[in-house]
Amino acid sequence: MSKTKVIAFANNKGGSGKSTTAANVAYSMAASGLRVLLIDGDMQLNLSLSYFSEDTVLEYAKNGKNLYTAIKEGRDLSDYILHTAYENLDLVPSSTLMSSIEFELFTKWQREFILKKSLAPTVARGTYDYILIDSPPTLGCWVMNILCACDYVLVPIEASPWGLFGFSNLFEFLEQVRGISPQLSLLGILLTKVDERKRYFRQTIEELRDLDGIRLFQNYIRIDSSIEQSQDRSQPVAAYKKASRSAMEYELLAKEIVTYVSR
Ligand SMILES: Nc1ncnc2c1ncn2[C@@H]1O[C@H](COP(=O)(O)OP(=O)(O)O)[C@@H](O)[C@H]1O
Ligand SMILES: [Mg+2]
Repeated sequence: MSKTKVIAFANNKGGSGKSTTAANVAYSMAASGLRVLLIDGDMQLNLSLSYFSEDTVLEYAKNGKNLYTAIKEGRDLSDYILHTAYENLDLVPSSTLMSSIEFELFTKWQREFILKKSLAPTVARGTYDYILIDSPPTLGCWVMNILCACDYVLVPIEASPWGLFGFSNLFEFLEQVRGISPQLSLLGILLTKVDERKRYFRQTIEELRDLDGIRLFQNYIRIDSSIEQSQDRSQPVAAYKKASRSAMEYELLAKEIVTYVSR
């Protein structure tokens, strides 16, 4: 039995493609036979809504079967797992109450490691090959919890004029996390919402290539309206439109991730 790999999708910039990437990479991994657990760490519920209807997600948010309750009460996260409509793919939903998670963590002992502890029984059981965690666009104690629970972090960056804005803050934050959780490594940077006709695309790629020792994923994700259409139906894009360009791009990206992680 191989060890469960835990990967965070993080960037302090909103709209960079964290939730979309986590949701679709998870689907491609699961479709290839890997067992995957998604964890929605954001109060915006976007990852939960990628797989469940709004009514279902709000119901879980209300009845306490969500990540917020697990963290607040220090429970084993395995009791909060839902099966999605797809084989090998499970999800822990979020709650809008996650907006007060920083406050909840403040008084806890070893407050950077609450998620890691809550996740430990699931990791120890080896039920999943991959656990993918979606983060909010913040750099506080909660995102530190997410990163401390992970082996890797993938940073999606929007190929836009402001895509790299705030990137150095994220970098300094990752260094701080490594100070208390040295196993965390930066898996790489992924360009998202790419429009190859726009000059920002080339510009962003050049700037990223200049960053020493940081991997830029060979695959990138282009702008595609099927993505929003699939999200509107709470489906991953490959289930909504199997032949779409994005479905293929996420499949190639998932393979690239697995290659780097298995090394
Ligand atoms: N490749 C893409 N093509 C078109 N729209 C995209 C693409 N990736 C993401 N989006 C849209 O961009 C918005 C932000 O993406 P999201 O994954 O929610 O970012 P984040 O989680 O970093 O805030 C969403 O409305 C999503 O539908
Ligand atoms: Mg998001």
